[in-house]
Amino acid sequence: MEDAPEVVRLEIEGTVHEFRVIVGSQGEKAIDISSLRDSTGYITLDDSYANTGSCQSGITYIDGEKGILRYRGYPIEKLAAEKTSFVETAWLVMFGSLPDTAERQWFTELLMENAALHHDMDQHFYAFPANGHPMAILSSMINALSTHSRPRVHDRESYIIAAARLMAKVRTIAAAAYKSSIGEPLIYPRSDLKYVANLLHMMFSVPYKNYEASKEVSRALNLFFMLHADHEQNCSTSTVRMVASSQANMYTACSAGVAALWGPLHGGANVAVVQMLSDIRKNDLSVGDYIKKEKNKEDGVKLMGFGHRVYKQFDPRAKILKGAADQLLTSMHITDPTLDIARELEQAALADDYFIERKLYPNVDFYSGVILRAVGIPLNMFTVMFSIGRVPGWIANWKEVHDNPAQRIYRPRQIYTGAVEQQWLPRNDRPPSLPDMWD
Ligand code: ACO
Repeated sequence: MEDAPEVVRLEIEGTVHEFRVIVGSQGEKAIDISSLRDSTGYITLDDSYANTGSCQSGITYIDGEKGILRYRGYPIEKLAAEKTSFVETAWLVMFGSLPDTAERQWFTELLMENAALHHDMDQHFYAFPANGHPMAILSSMINALSTHSRPRVHDRESYIIAAARLMAKVRTIAAAAYKSSIGEPLIYPRSDLKYVANLLHMMFSVPYKNYEASKEVSRALNLFFMLHADHEQNCSTSTVRMVASSQANMYTACSAGVAALWGPLHGGANVAVVQMLSDIRKNDLSVGDYIKKEKNKEDGVKLMGFGHRVYKQFDPRAKILKGAADQLLTSMHITDPTLDIARELEQAALADDYFIERKLYPNVDFYSGVILRAVGIPLNMFTVMFSIGRVPGWIANWKEVHDNPAQRIYRPRQIYTGAVEQQWLPRNDRPPSLPDMWD
């Protein structure tokens, strides 16, 4: 990699200004423009932030050109190959390195001790309308945790306890959101079950019958959660950091993360992919016709689960999930025609100039839906599953903001394009304010 200069120069209106260059531990280069407005009167405009580094972070590294993703330096392929559990990965992401045996045991106990919700919280679930979307319930209920106790993070132990509490309660809330959305009684966590098996128990057991997750199902969901644990400054994580920068508490910041994740361009894409594949199947569309439709940008149709702001290569998570989907369906002896359509779509898109020129490849959501369907997760819970997986990343990012002694509140500027100063008129002298409204 070429050495970066120490400073870069920018000439504005005849004056040359110097800006420091910051180099990351993997050689990425950034121009530090923190003095730009003071020294030049200008700001930068980077709508949707494609060229803006919003922070320095030590959690996750992505090289979108090479298709690399590492948590705290560990390649996700290695974590997947070693069958690293979601709980271990969460510890890695949140606290910086993989846990030893005693730490892992302590964390498991903390997750268990904190799994139950305060009885008053249970009552909230019955107040949401039947069929209320579980993402809305999840976001509201995570924020509602702050009404019972706000996490106080002042040292290492209090951080670990707060993180365990949130991870444990998010799981219980997610399952309860599902139960309340289908009108079934809430199921309490069990002390003998691990993180993923306990989630499935709370979702699928009923008072008269216990659900026991198979090994294949637990393993597939562990992998799914592990691959979603963090992804640097994506929309929801940036939202969490934005909220954290006002010194809001961990729960509140993560509840905002859930809201940001819900949209179909972000975590909601896993639902949109399955809907797209089912539509193609139900309407007997050819893959070629479908691709033609979205290349023409008809009705805003996009190939859901394709494309990424950062990856200009295969999303490494999609590669792992594709293999895992194949394996899971084989081991469960099920066939899912949507997996065949997904494979066909992928082949057709990867050979098509439109996708090649724009460097559009499958992202994490392209195959994750096939896995979630196979393990019996209902469609409206797909993005909730993503949220459970992403909680460790949100917590770790919240902590970086919380710990930064130089942290200032996130407060971008704008280029104003509205009316210039107007003259105030008494109401009877004003022209109609909405002249074209009924035209
Ligand atoms: N299907 C068809 N065309 C696409 C797609 C797609 N999935 N994604 C991008 N394009 C096209 C755009 O129309 C644009 O074309 P143009 O140059 O002719 O205008 C070009 O590719 C560049 O795309 P942008 O919209 O500028 O890409 P951006 O970085 O803003 O958006 C995003 C990234 C939101 C992921 C986009 O690719 C997309 O909407 N994909 C489908 C939704 C999806 O799968 N989201 C999940 C992302 S992963 C995650 O959040 C967990």
